[in-house]
Amino acid sequence: MSKTVYQAIGGRDAVEAVVADFYDQVLSDDQLAPYFEGMEMSELRAHQVQFISSVAGGPVEYTGDDMRAAHAQLDIDEADFDAVGEYLHDALERNGVEPQYVERIMSEVAALKAPILGTPATND
Ligand code: HEM
Repeated sequence: MSKTVYQAIGGRDAVEAVVADFYDQVLSDDQLAPYFEGMEMSELRAHQVQFISSVAGGPVEYTGDDMRAAHAQLDIDEADFDAVGEYLHDALERNGVEPQYVERIMSEVAALKAPILGTPATND
């Protein structure tokens, strides 16, 4: 059987390194940090690791809320979504994920724009 993207990039250790780097960047950004004030960051990190792992084909189960519900109260705008996406892209690259896998993961993330912004989407 061929490997999933998750397995090909190094599994749990790799995704944990990406997610740690990702939140370091997001929380260092004055425009984005306020969204995360008062949030339970250890739980959020754990859910983000599960989420990215399952987006990358796992097999890992994601046990958090769906993306629309998780972000519904946050009033996120498109520029902020794009900035967060850039940090994820950079974190994947910086942690040695091969470009073909970076692109595959980022195309899944791009599809989350409407649910995360809370806008209607036909394919959501
Ligand atoms: C780019 C794609 C994004 C992905 C893949 C993503 C993924 C996630 C995941 C998996 C959770 C956990 C939900 C749970 O624990 O049930 C979450 C929560 C959260 N996300 Fe995102 N997110 C994205 C974009 C954003 C953006 C753009 C912002 C703000 C600028 C943001 C802010 C938050 C906050 C504040 C929470 C915590 C909500 C809470 O605990 O009530 N996310 N996100």
